[in-house]
Amino acid sequence: MRNWETPFGPVYVGKKAFQALDAWLLEHRETYSHVLILTDEHVHEACIPFILGSLSNLGETSILEIEAGESSKSMDLLGQLYLAMLDHQADRQSLVISIGGGVVTDLGGMLTSTFMRGVDHVLIPTSLLGMVDASIGGKTGVNVGGFKNLAGTFASSRGVFVQPDLLNSLPEAHWRAGWAECIKHAYLLGSPVWGEAKALSELDRLRTLLPTLMEAKIQRIQADPFEQGNERKALNLGHSMAHAAEAQLGPSLLHGDAVAAGLWLEFDIAESIGLCDYADVAAMKNIIDQWWPARLKLNEEMLNRLRGDKKNHAGTVRMALPGAPGASVTLTEVSESNIKKALASYASY
Ligand SMILES: NC(=O)c1ccc[n+]([C@@H]2O[C@H](COP(=O)([O-])OP(=O)(O)OC[C@H]3O[C@@H](n4cnc5c(N)ncnc54)[C@H](O)[C@@H]3O)[C@@H](O)[C@H]2O)c1
Repeated sequence: MRNWETPFGPVYVGKKAFQALDAWLLEHRETYSHVLILTDEHVHEACIPFILGSLSNLGETSILEIEAGESSKSMDLLGQLYLAMLDHQADRQSLVISIGGGVVTDLGGMLTSTFMRGVDHVLIPTSLLGMVDASIGGKTGVNVGGFKNLAGTFASSRGVFVQPDLLNSLPEAHWRAGWAECIKHAYLLGSPVWGEAKALSELDRLRTLLPTLMEAKIQRIQADPFEQGNERKALNLGHSMAHAAEAQLGPSLLHGDAVAAGLWLEFDIAESIGLCDYADVAAMKNIIDQWWPARLKLNEEMLNRLRGDKKNHAGTVRMALPGAPGASVTLTEVSESNIKKALASYASY
């Protein structure tokens, strides 16, 4: 098992991650008045029995189950969850354990950092995307009026516990969605991991690479916890266009599939403005084309959505754009014409 300390709490990964959680529960369980588990219906069925069977010190729990999918990251559902917490007699001494993909852990983070001004939180990510990205780094969020993560907080947790065997039940489409964030992390790490990503033929191999890919994010969180410099902003690679695509196409588009398209488009833009070499752009586009052969139906409506992006400054659209594998990422102003050109080239491919 590997573990790290981060500014937002400890992170554990490996087959013994639940032993670490159980040891923590042994020490702390009696300080909590209630333990509530937040999960969605798929994860409830696929993962909760195994997790509960692995934790002998958990004691009594209540389960709050939400509908699976991006639509659940809403202010509406957040409001309902506050009230459901009260129905379960939750108070400020309660502990919430979020068990699920990025939707559950983002929503759980928002819930726990605001319910009665904050209760303790433990995260058990169950999707590849959740393990490698969403559960790490303290960002929480809900979508508002079609804008991704418009409301959110930075919040610490008592721990993130990653048990890779939970991936056994993850549907194929969500393996691929998680792969998109892994590609981003591999590019940020550079050689040799970027080389492995380019040559990868089986997504199952990602189980072995998991700690390395998690570390790509952890290092940047440790260097720049609140995204004040460029270290953490690098993790937004591909995400300006991804969030705009999600806003245009709605919650049925998987976040990871949007990130794949976002990487393609932002690498195209980076090449147009001379930030990134042709060979590196071609390598990124090749991976995306290989794993996402169908194009998303994107249009210039995305431009409106880009204007609501959190990286913007004084009304100009700014994106975290790539330089070279393993090198730093630059927050760059991007013109509408560069965005339109990238969209045209993506559509005509
Ligand atoms: N906070 C952050 O830093 C951060 C970073 C990246 C992404 N995100 C957010 O993460 C969200 C996407 O997360 P996601 O891709 O995990 O989506 P998700 O939470 O919707 O999970 C994907 C699907 O897989 C199912 N599932 C998850 N684990 C399973 C398992 N082990 N077995 C069977 N089914 C399982 C879920 O029920 C769901 O249907 C987006 O809202 C995105 O904005 C947040």
